[in-house]
Amino acid sequence: MIEKGVEIQKPVGKLGVLLPGLGAVSTTFIAGINAIRKGIAKPIGSISEMGHVRLGKRTENRVIPIKDFVPLAKLENLEFGSWDIFEDNGYQSALKAGVLPEDLLNQVKDELESVKPMKAVFSNDYVKLIDGPNKKKGENKFDLAQQLIEDIENFKKEKGVERMVMVWCASTEVYREPTHVHQSLESFEKGLKENSPDIAPSQIYAYASISAGVPIANGAPNLTLDIPAMIDYANEKNIAIAGKDYKTGQTFMKTVLAPGIKAKLLGCRGWFSTNILGNRDGEVLDDPASFKSKEVSKTEVLDQIFQSDRYPDLYSDIFHKVRINYYPPRGDSKEGWDNIDIFGWMGMPMQIKVNFLCRDSILAAPLVLDLARFLDLAQRAGMKGIQEWLSFYFKAPMCAPELYPENDIFIQLMKLKNTLRHLRGEELITHLGLEYYD
Ligand SMILES: NC(=O)c1ccc[n+]([C@@H]2O[C@H](COP(=O)([O-])OP(=O)(O)OC[C@H]3O[C@@H](n4cnc5c(N)ncnc54)[C@H](O)[C@@H]3O)[C@@H](O)[C@H]2O)c1
Repeated sequence: MIEKGVEIQKPVGKLGVLLPGLGAVSTTFIAGINAIRKGIAKPIGSISEMGHVRLGKRTENRVIPIKDFVPLAKLENLEFGSWDIFEDNGYQSALKAGVLPEDLLNQVKDELESVKPMKAVFSNDYVKLIDGPNKKKGENKFDLAQQLIEDIENFKKEKGVERMVMVWCASTEVYREPTHVHQSLESFEKGLKENSPDIAPSQIYAYASISAGVPIANGAPNLTLDIPAMIDYANEKNIAIAGKDYKTGQTFMKTVLAPGIKAKLLGCRGWFSTNILGNRDGEVLDDPASFKSKEVSKTEVLDQIFQSDRYPDLYSDIFHKVRINYYPPRGDSKEGWDNIDIFGWMGMPMQIKVNFLCRDSILAAPLVLDLARFLDLAQRAGMKGIQEWLSFYFKAPMCAPELYPENDIFIQLMKLKNTLRHLRGEELITHLGLEYYD
């Protein structure tokens, strides 16, 4: 029995991190973890490694590292597994991705080389502009799911891991609306057996993950987990799930700036966002159907933050446009431009320009680490289904059907830290502050 908070199983033994997709994000993540283990790098950008949480009153001076506050898997206890349509091992793939310089990669070469991708479940109906040889064959989609479950079980045995999490790091699939096949577990399993064209490869991984008792996060804007069948299945099997689409570059800036504009009750007439990027992700997103998935997850953010229904004078006519342009010379070094047309007192117009020269995978890698560890924590704390407290990490956070998602990055961070306080039975922080003046 515990005295306060929620009972959390100890993170005994190793944690397997299963990564569908061994591309730029996955290899940057794995390279980074190994570099940190060797003391070559610091875990910059990771809340689970570098973040702190304040406990109690400001006068108590109790501010402690999150990793000492909640029981998280240690970095030295992480093992990596992956699937990809290409046979390149982690080192070869990292070289091709071109995110990290070769001399840095060479310092973790053996570790990267040891990650060899398993055969992927893939369909060109869902990702159009790339193809590769390392793919599974099966009688139907149910059979493919069973092969993935076998992969997961074999990985567990071979690596001797106690627990596992899956974090989707594969390409963005084409935009799809849910159909009848997604409405219940029964119709979904029937669809798997009948090879329904409405079931995406990412959903086959998700089904396999939940079947194998492995929590899963979706780092891409695919429909993957946002269907009743998957949410019901996760609840039924007591599995934690989270999504979707890592919040890294332009949307990160948007969810920093928009809450500021809204807090000052300045109006906004237009927000034009455009990007150039030249990595494989950019190549896949050059297909309009894959881009549509991204566009939807990127544009919903402003509607929710600005609440135009409540503030029609400020935000009802906002024109929001997002563009991604594939431009190979830039590789992973994305450049984003935002032009924001705002207005103030007496409706007088003003403009904000943002030019963010970011590096996509450098921003995404620490998110993969945090998601893997926090999902594992949630699972050990008996938290099942949608993990809304992890909204901080996503462009289009999953939440209960009757709720709207929370996109304001500062509210998201407070939600995350308060959830950790709740788990440990600490007082939640409201920032009221009146108690200091009694
Ligand atoms: N980097 C970021 O900042 C960021 C932000 C938000 C979302 N994302 C998403 O994360 C994902 C990974 O991004 P990336 O830059 O690493 O892309 P990437 O193209 O470098 O890597 C993706 C890998 O997935 C593989 N793949 C595709 N379909 C697969 C399947 N069905 N099974 C197994 N492997 C498959 C590809 O062969 C490729 O190697 C993308 O969907 C991207 O949109 C990235």
